[in-house]
Amino acid sequence: MLTVALPKGRIAKETLEIFETIFGETFAFDDRKLILETENFRFLLVRNQDVATYVFHQAADIGVVGLDTLEEQGLDVIRLLDLRRGVCKVAIGMKVGEKLDLTKAEIKVATKMVNITKRYFAERAIAADVIKLYGSIELAPLVGLADMIVDIVETGATMKQNGLEVVEEIMESSTYLIANKNSYFEKKSEVLDIYEKINDVVKQEK
Ligand code: PRP
Repeated sequence: MLTVALPKGRIAKETLEIFETIFGETFAFDDRKLILETENFRFLLVRNQDVATYVFHQAADIGVVGLDTLEEQGLDVIRLLDLRRGVCKVAIGMKVGEKLDLTKAEIKVATKMVNITKRYFAERAIAADVIKLYGSIELAPLVGLADMIVDIVETGATMKQNGLEVVEEIMESSTYLIANKNSYFEKKSEVLDIYEKINDVVKQEK
């Protein structure tokens, strides 16, 4: 039996569809239930930001989560496979027409992704004042809270609608299958078996 942590929403749905393709049966949570048990799997429905936490502490053996979240959290889990879903970028956005001037004395950056942002500016030896927000990041430059934002860009529509544009791409992200390090050894055959089956599905889509 493998316990699988899935993030509520689209990624959970897409992952369960992969399991349906593999096993030819329905995988669906009952309304509002957070656990789904099948013959060989126990699926947990958790918040996106909590997937790696469940896996790191071995409350789940494997999980599915975005690379951006993994990079931000830095928890020590095994990155097994890129599922090639949820493709997006982490990028710096500024008001349309403004230029990224890294020689400015003090740069104010608003973001949900404080660690990725701090790392990016530290690697360039730039003093940045990083302001943590929990959502609606695109608002910050419009009201003078920050000079720029670091945020997820998928279609680019949110930035565009708010008069912002990408001035720099920091990283590409997509959904990854991850595993707990102990589970990877203790349940190696089970983990590798599902890894290979998922890999076959993902490869075929190319
Ligand atoms: C992300 C991000 C942007 C938006 C970008 O938020 O913070 O606001 O998506 O997508 P787009 O380029 O397609 O417009 P998300 O929807 O993940 O919600 P969250 O703020 O609750 O994380």
